[in-house]
Amino acid sequence: MNAGIIGTGHYLPEKILTNKELEKMVDTSDEWIRSRTGIEERRIADDSMDTSDLAFNAAVNALEDAKIKAEELDLILVATVTPDTSFPSVSCMIQNRLGATKAAAMDVSAACAGFMYGVITAQQFIQNNAYKNILVVGVEKLSKITDWTDRNTCVLFGDGAGAAVIGPVSEGKGILSFELGSDGSGGKHLLQDKDHISMNGREVFKFAVRQMPESSVHVVEKAGYSTDDVDYLIPHQANIRIMEAARERLGLPKEKMATSVKKYGNTSAASIPIALSEEVKSGKIKEDDLVVLVGFGGGLTWGAVAIRW
Ligand code: ACO
Repeated sequence: MNAGIIGTGHYLPEKILTNKELEKMVDTSDEWIRSRTGIEERRIADDSMDTSDLAFNAAVNALEDAKIKAEELDLILVATVTPDTSFPSVSCMIQNRLGATKAAAMDVSAACAGFMYGVITAQQFIQNNAYKNILVVGVEKLSKITDWTDRNTCVLFGDGAGAAVIGPVSEGKGILSFELGSDGSGGKHLLQDKDHISMNGREVFKFAVRQMPESSVHVVEKAGYSTDDVDYLIPHQANIRIMEAARERLGLPKEKMATSVKKYGNTSAASIPIALSEEVKSGKIKEDDLVVLVGFGGGLTWGAVAIRW
């Protein structure tokens, strides 16, 4: 049985933190942040909302879109590096709140590539006819592990959640191919050091600007297509310059790539499902489009899929 995305949803906290406001917190400028990253503002969840609250809201939205009841879910996978607690998992927390009484639940830890790992794991269960409906959530409250005195990192990140329901789809549709990878030797370049994110931006940039275009091309070719056939690109929303490298490699015009990094910054595991949900809901991704999702993150990890929508 082919597996595809049968519903999408997202949730963003209301509070906006602009580059201008960051100028008052650290030695930076709106101009520097925009020109180096493409980020204009990001969302920050207040103390009343933890990661599971963001995840729950996105999940409800995705279930409505898929027209699936929580009781029909067989498995819940939550990709996050900022869980409320290491256990119980965020997936168990939302299993209870959703009333997903039949669902198994586990969290996936692959940093910004976590949603891709979740989607591919879900695909395996569906292809094997073991499960029918699987909820995959990418969610982060990065603000709680951000060092708000470190200009190298604090300008980059934001909070949010995106979700997708993975289910059986007809022949020729859904996930056509995938690539997942890891390189633990690069783990030192991007990590949680005690309480905060620590990053060697230049090294992560070099890795990402090579990996995102490469993985995008690999999944298109594995699916039996050429880059000319791709209709839409949803890259991990980390930095517009890295995203542009992937878009140019696929030969796509600017309007065929999601760019929510401007509004939300880098929301790690949440960035791809948020962008996907927005592009589907605005009608930019259409029936039968060949869509590439591609991400990279701490670990180092990466993942991509080609999907016939
Ligand atoms: N404001 C002003 N200046 C700054 C800021 C800031 N917020 N941050 C760094 N600088 C300074 C640096 O200190 C450096 O100064 P120096 O030359 O005197 O040492 C200077 O700006 C230039 O630094 P570069 O590293 O050359 O800047 P670059 O153009 O590479 O951009 C950036 C930096 C945006 C961090 C880039 O390297 C990048 O995007 N890397 C990838 C980061 C990433 O995607 N991380 C997350 C991926 S995984 C995940 O999503 C969790």
